[in-house]
Amino acid sequence: MNFFDLVNKRQSVRKYSSQKVNDEQILKCIESARIAPSASNSQPWHFIIVKEPTLKQKVAQATITQKLINNFTLQAPALIVIVVEKPTLLTQFAGWVKKRDFEWTDLGIAAEHICLQATELELGTCMVGWFDEKKIIELLNIPKNKRVGLVISIGYPADNYTLRKKTRKPLEQILTYNKY
Ligand SMILES: Cc1cc2nc3c(=O)[nH]c(=O)nc-3n(C[C@H](O)[C@H](O)[C@H](O)COP(=O)(O)O)c2cc1C
Repeated sequence: MNFFDLVNKRQSVRKYSSQKVNDEQILKCIESARIAPSASNSQPWHFIIVKEPTLKQKVAQATITQKLINNFTLQAPALIVIVVEKPTLLTQFAGWVKKRDFEWTDLGIAAEHICLQATELELGTCMVGWFDEKKIIELLNIPKNKRVGLVISIGYPADNYTLRKKTRKPLEQILTYNKY
């Protein structure tokens, strides 16, 4: 699979099969995130793999609102919770000067590395940004002063899962040359 095919194959998977995911596969995804680039190489992230079934269901529940949003997290065999760590002092200073939270950019890059690596392993993922942060902090013993950046559900897609056509803005709407 070439890179573009891989990128095209990645899609948010919201239906999972009951097939277990082995630890090496999830670790390979984390390894791909670990080597992701970050501002000043700060690596401002901590990954928590949540697989223990009872705990995983509790964390999944913390992503669900009114049984309407994110129900699929209950079906996913594992969740990866990404905690935002403080970047290096240099990056904190640069962020302060430039009014940018570089750590959130870094987190997004690492998250996509996870999802692309999972895709290569035939696994499905969905980034989940809608969750009860306080609840997840409490459930996973995360220090209260830290932020949870993202939850990623991971597992084998359900048997009948097919590749959807990507719904995206046309190029003319998002690209210009030499000026806005
Ligand atoms: C930061 C972020 C947060 C997201 N949060 C959720 C979420 O809470 N629930 C959900 O079902 N999908 C969530 N998504 C998935 C997006 O809806 C999805 O990526 C987008 O619609 C494009 O579809 P695709 O991933 O299938 O290409 C999130 C994606 C990102 C990048």
